[in-house]
Amino acid sequence: MTATLTREPHHVGPLANRLNTILASRGIDPGVTAEEPPAEPVTALELADARIPARYRRALADHPQITAWADQIAGAGRPGPGGPGIAEGPSLLIVGPTGTGKTHQAYGAVRALLTRGVRLRWEATTSADLHARLRPRAGHDAERELQTLARCPLLLLDDLGAAKTSEWTEELTYRLINHRYEHMLPTLITTSLPTAELRTALGDRVASRLAEMTERVILTGPDRRRTAPAA
Ligand SMILES: Nc1ncnc2c1ncn2[C@@H]1O[C@H](COP(=O)(O)OP(=O)(O)OP(=O)(O)O)[C@@H](O)[C@H]1O
Ligand SMILES: [Mg+2]
Repeated sequence: MTATLTREPHHVGPLANRLNTILASRGIDPGVTAEEPPAEPVTALELADARIPARYRRALADHPQITAWADQIAGAGRPGPGGPGIAEGPSLLIVGPTGTGKTHQAYGAVRALLTRGVRLRWEATTSADLHARLRPRAGHDAERELQTLARCPLLLLDDLGAAKTSEWTEELTYRLINHRYEHMLPTLITTSLPTAELRTALGDRVASRLAEMTERVILTGPDRRRTAPAA
């Protein structure tokens, strides 16, 4: 047996007509539906650009070791919904005299990962700022901040060894580097100190770990700040 309709269908015509008349009397065209303007897509690179210091916002890592590193990290990324996430991997120690482009290459490396579609949580600090940020002071959880930097999937530690050191800063640097060493977290480190001086400045425990965990990228040449035309 087939089911039969026992109720009359509703007639919405008169109601809709009345509504349309009311809308029209108020100058509203009932046929037009409000449309949201399409959202501008914001890329990870654009979001990162906002956090990169203006001078390095367009930095391109053109050093072959840096591009090879970015390829390796991007290739080893854990698959995820927003693109591959950063995994364990090698670190870089970018070494060279003042003004040879170490910081430029380091921010260029962060940008290189983002342009390769890597989902990236990253932090950047100079070692002088690190000491200032982590100095114990009231109402500030320095230990938590150290953990944030130590555990961050990618850390840029700029100008290592350039800040004045003490037993306290040596311990701090050791804890930071040791965590990243043990967990094999990719770290971009720049320094203008040659190996022997770095060892003296940071202690042998840090220097030994850096020797194992980083690939050295040597930058040479004149101070670009003094040779480039003023921007
Ligand atoms: N490959 C590059 N192309 C264009 N400009 C560059 C390049 N490398 C560096 N620069 C520019 O040269 C200047 C010095 O670079 P950067 O600050 O990276 O040097 P550095 O080695 O980090 O110096 P420091 O040891 O004093 O920290 C900056 O203005 C930077 O933008
Ligand atoms: Mg620098």
